[in-house]
Amino acid sequence: MQSMLKLELITLCILLVVGATPQPVNLQTIREALRPLVSASSWLNGNGQPVTFSQNQNLLSMRGPWTLQSGDALGVFDTYQQAVVFPSKSARVTQTNSNGTGFAKLNWAKPIAGQSYNLTAITTGGGQLRLSFNLDCSDSTKVINSGALNNGQSFVFTWPASNCWHTLYAISGLNQASTVSASLIKV
Ligand SMILES: *[C@@H]1O[C@H](CO)[C@@H](O)[C@H](O)[C@H]1NC(C)=O
Ligand SMILES: *[C@@H]1O[C@H](CO)[C@@H](O)[C@H](O)[C@H]1NC(C)=O
Repeated sequence: MQSMLKLELITLCILLVVGATPQPVNLQTIREALRPLVSASSWLNGNGQPVTFSQNQNLLSMRGPWTLQSGDALGVFDTYQQAVVFPSKSARVTQTNSNGTGFAKLNWAKPIAGQSYNLTAITTGGGQLRLSFNLDCSDSTKVINSGALNNGQSFVFTWPASNCWHTLYAISGLNQASTVSASLIKV
């Protein structure tokens, strides 16, 4: 008796699933009804609460390419974590990106000379972050240098009118796995 009931329930479930499968004609109706969004005065989240989106987005990417400065192997950029990931090693790894690919290239997101920015290190396992600008190609003493920042430490600086080159450093932790990421936000 009980197994008959089970069988009936299974049949019912199968019928429900098959019945719920959208037919191509329904998709066509939905597609035809779609309209571009022209404007909205506000947005609600999944719980029906109003949300606001910040335009102050992170401007610094950890994607690389990276060049090994010391240590035996480059840490690897992980898209999901937006961080350089280092395995546990007994010698610290320091890697640099001087290729100018770290900063946003989009017009709305490009750093602006004279504007203040807040660089914050987001690291685990003792990883460190550093950013430096060489302001004058013929005078290596003219620099803006964040120094090595530990997790949560930040460095506020004014974006220079010009610079010869800049270098982003990702520095691993020691004897434990570590990650290094950054946030660079307009102040
Ligand atoms: C990045 O810069 C380094 C140092 O100048 C150079 O060796 C390397 O080839 C560059 N990488 C890319 C992908 O341009
Ligand atoms: C910079 O960012 C850190 C970390 O989010 C924050 O604690 C600090 O108040 C910020 N400083 C400025 C001047 O915005």
